[in-house]
Amino acid sequence: MKQERNSSPPGGSALLYDTLMWPVERAAVGAWRRRLAARARGRVLEIGAGSGSQFRWYAPGTEVTALEPDPGMAARARRRASQAVAGVRVAEGRAEELPFADEHFDAVLAAFTLCTVGEPERALAEVHRVLKPGGELLLIEHVHLRWQPGRWLQSQAAPLWAKAAGGCRLDRDTLGLVRAAGFAVVSEQPHVAGWIREVVARRP
Ligand SMILES: C[S@@+](CC[C@H](N)C(=O)[O-])C[C@H]1O[C@@H](n2cnc3c(N)ncnc32)[C@H](O)[C@@H]1O
Repeated sequence: MKQERNSSPPGGSALLYDTLMWPVERAAVGAWRRRLAARARGRVLEIGAGSGSQFRWYAPGTEVTALEPDPGMAARARRRASQAVAGVRVAEGRAEELPFADEHFDAVLAAFTLCTVGEPERALAEVHRVLKPGGELLLIEHVHLRWQPGRWLQSQAAPLWAKAAGGCRLDRDTLGLVRAAGFAVVSEQPHVAGWIREVVARRP
């Protein structure tokens, strides 16, 4: 994990991402973020933190380590970290290689990240390792639809979309991967006709 760097300017893609997300955040995503963050207490890891849109929702006293591989996103996230009421530390790093001891965190949060990580099985194995037994994995994620023709359309669009959107997969069965990694799904709330899932899973 690279240590904090304050010199890199915020990247253009980070600014574009925030601009595109702004109406969506206000309309719905902010409420989902707030609900998940309310469950994240103690020592929390956020993977793929992006520009730090989640940070404002963590409660005071929460100790958040936020990993983000993209330097432009990470630079923007650091600015948001300094305004958060929780303690938030941002570092560059990938979910597939978590530089933390076993059973170190009380909760791990990932919002729209597992769709993009290159090796989600490996990332989830790492998340399982660094969570304490009983610790929670908190997710907001878009998934491969269960109904047709939505599912078929996603499969058709997935390769092109992945090229346009930094590797984001429209056809990923993230919940299946979460279960296969050994997590118990505690709650699953569907949004947008089941396209997006708000999930609480627990390491047994
Ligand atoms: C769609 S953005 C979501 C950002 C943020 N979580 C949010 O809710 O706005 C996906 C993020 O995952 C990051 N990412 C891509 N590959 C990753 C990996 N292997 N490990 C961790 N994060 C990754 C990207 O750099 C990007 O910031």
